[in-house]
Amino acid sequence: MAEKKAGGLAGIVAGETAIATVGKAGLGLNYRGYSIYDLAERASFEEVAYLLIYSDLPTEAELDEFQARITSKRELPKSLLLVLEQIPADAHPMDVLRTGCSALGTLEQENNNQYDVVERLLATFPGMLFYWHHYQQHHKKIKTQTAETSLAGHILYLLHGKAPEEDMRRAVDVSLTLYAEHEFNASTFTGRIVASTLSDMYSAVTAAIGALRGPLHGGANEKAMELIEKFKTPAEAEKKLKDMLSNKEKIMGFGHRVYRESDPRSNIIKTWAKKLAEKTQKENLYSVAECIEKVMWDEKHLFPNLDFYSAIVYHCCGFPTSMFTPLFVMSRITGWAAHVVEQRENNKLIRPGADYVGPEQKDYVEIQSR
Ligand code: COA
Repeated sequence: MAEKKAGGLAGIVAGETAIATVGKAGLGLNYRGYSIYDLAERASFEEVAYLLIYSDLPTEAELDEFQARITSKRELPKSLLLVLEQIPADAHPMDVLRTGCSALGTLEQENNNQYDVVERLLATFPGMLFYWHHYQQHHKKIKTQTAETSLAGHILYLLHGKAPEEDMRRAVDVSLTLYAEHEFNASTFTGRIVASTLSDMYSAVTAAIGALRGPLHGGANEKAMELIEKFKTPAEAEKKLKDMLSNKEKIMGFGHRVYRESDPRSNIIKTWAKKLAEKTQKENLYSVAECIEKVMWDEKHLFPNLDFYSAIVYHCCGFPTSMFTPLFVMSRITGWAAHVVEQRENNKLIRPGADYVGPEQKDYVEIQSR
């Protein structure tokens, strides 16, 4: 009898990568050899993006040029604006980015210029989302260029229509660094599979967005916020969460396929969640979240992943909950792109096998006789 395989490819090594190490010895996260702790504390997201896309940290001159290229690529083509205007107001913002990415791929095809495509998507995702958002919600056609040089500042400016306060900008900047890359997660692996057929960068990224959308992956940050907001007090959270657990419900924003004891990104973002909750007088939300964290640990020995406290950071910055996963896209495009480039450098079609568990061979029966 065939040996039973681990579900969901758990524990299976599916290839090599030089981009990130996740959960070595149960914890830790490095991007191209640099610890996430150092990067989140000392680097800007743009440095991290450059590191992932171009394999090394930039010099000052390289960073200036990179940032200038990104900021100069923020305008959206007119026909893309028309496409965005057709997307209904009640569409999910992830579908807006998935459609926007695919539509841009029809207007500016990839012709041996993979880095141009990556930089263009990095520059335009915020404009795509917020152009659609303001058009549908406020009947306004906004400009997708701002004076903000950082991606975090640009995103916040597009949301609020004014320059952000520095602590909010930096909190979003750190979250983008934490979300940028995570080895062979579901969306990145999706992107690599598409790239392995020798398809184009837009197709790989469009498919990756689709994979990220689900609540077992990127969509968990939205579900985490919905959960936290359900409870008025920590006491209510404790009681109702225990009920949910006894009903065997999954609590989004907890647990991880690779990390076993903690998610190294969670403590970093938690510090920012506390800071912004105090600043915006949302301490109660933070207390409820901490209570959920304690109950999950005491009852299930499960720890918060990055999505849990990121939800509070984004909420305190004023983002609607349905935009949380799109913010993840705006960062993870860097990791996806790095993996597509790496896959292309040493490509082999990704096409695993399966154990057949269906019926034995049968004789075909004519339709009239069935
Ligand atoms: N809430 C409640 N129980 C959980 C849980 C959660 N968030 N995560 C795992 N578990 C439990 C499962 O119910 C299962 O229990 P069982 O063995 O009694 O059936 C056990 O822990 C193993 O979980 P499983 O889902 O099989 O492990 P996995 O490696 O496939 O899970 C995740 C990884 C991330 C999919 C899972 O932890 C999860 O669904 N988390 C919530 C979604 C989320 O936050 N995703 C973002 C990840 S960064």
